[in-house]
Amino acid sequence: MYLLDGKLLSEQIKLELAAEVDQIKLQGGKIPHLAAIIVGENPASQVYVASKIKSCEQVGFKSTLIRCEADTSQEELLKIVDGLNQDPDVDGFIVQLPLPKHIDEEAVTLAIAPEKDVDGFHPVNFGRMAQGLPSFLPATPMGILEILKRYNIETSGKHCVVIGRSNIVGTPISILLSRKGYPGDCTVTLTHSRTKDLPAEVRRADIVVAAIGIPEFVKGDWVKEGAVVIDVGINRIPDDTKKSGTRIAGDVDFEQVAPKSSFITPVPGGVGLMTVTSLLMNTLKASKGEIYGK
Ligand code: GUN
Repeated sequence: MYLLDGKLLSEQIKLELAAEVDQIKLQGGKIPHLAAIIVGENPASQVYVASKIKSCEQVGFKSTLIRCEADTSQEELLKIVDGLNQDPDVDGFIVQLPLPKHIDEEAVTLAIAPEKDVDGFHPVNFGRMAQGLPSFLPATPMGILEILKRYNIETSGKHCVVIGRSNIVGTPISILLSRKGYPGDCTVTLTHSRTKDLPAEVRRADIVVAAIGIPEFVKGDWVKEGAVVIDVGINRIPDDTKKSGTRIAGDVDFEQVAPKSSFITPVPGGVGLMTVTSLLMNTLKASKGEIYGK
C-alpha cells in the first residue's frame, strides 16, 4: 500500500507556482490576484478561506478577503460580486459556501462572471467541462485528477466507483473520469443514497472515490484487493484520546481499507490540501487568460 501524499504534492505544486510568479515578476507581468468573499462566521468556512488566502501569500499571488456580516442581504452580496466581476485587477474570485439561509446560492453562483469563476461552479464552466471544452474545473475533482496524474496511476479502461453525487465533487469527478484521455477513459459508476447494495458496487471498483461526508463509511470488506482509494471526506468526530476531544476522519475506514488498497489518500493530508492548490492553479490560468482569453 502506498500513500497518495497530498501534502507533498501540494507543496511541490506551490513551488512550481511560486517559480512561475517569479518569472512573471521578472518580465514585469501582472501578479495573479484571487479574491474571496465570506459571509458570516461559519467556523469551517473561516478555516478554509484562511487557508486559501495563506496559500496565495505562499506562492506570491495577490489576495483580497472580503468579509461580510451574516445578515448581509442578497442584493448587497450581488453588488460585491458585480464589483469583482468589473475589477480588472481581480483575475478570479470565489464566494465561500455555504451561504446563510436567506441568500440563494444559485443566484450568487450565476452572478459570477464565468471567466473569473475559479471555483468552476458556474453552469457555463460546468457545461463546458461536461462537453470536454476548456473550463475552470471545480477544485476538488481537479485535485483528484492531479493526484492521479502525478502518481502516474493508470485509469484507462478501469472501473471507477464514485460514492456521492454532489455538484461539487461526485457528479463532476464522474464526468471527468469518463472523459476521453488521461486521466480518464474510466468506466464510471456513480452511486448514491438510493443505490441498491452499495458494498457490492464498490467491490467491483479498480478506483474508489468516496465523497459522501459520512465518517469511516467505506469498510474494508467493500474494497477489492489492489484498488486505488481516493477519500474526499473531511469529518470531525469525537476522540477521547485527543486533547481536543475530536479528530478528523475521512469517508473511508482507513485502518480497514488501507491494507487492501494499492494506493490510498490519507485524511488529513490527502485530497483536502490539493483542493487549495487547484484553486491557485485556476487563478493563474485566469490571470493568463488560458480558458477565455484576455
Ligand atoms: N465550500 C466547500 N467547498 C468549497 C469550495 O471549493 N469553494 C467554495 N467557494 N465554497 C466551498
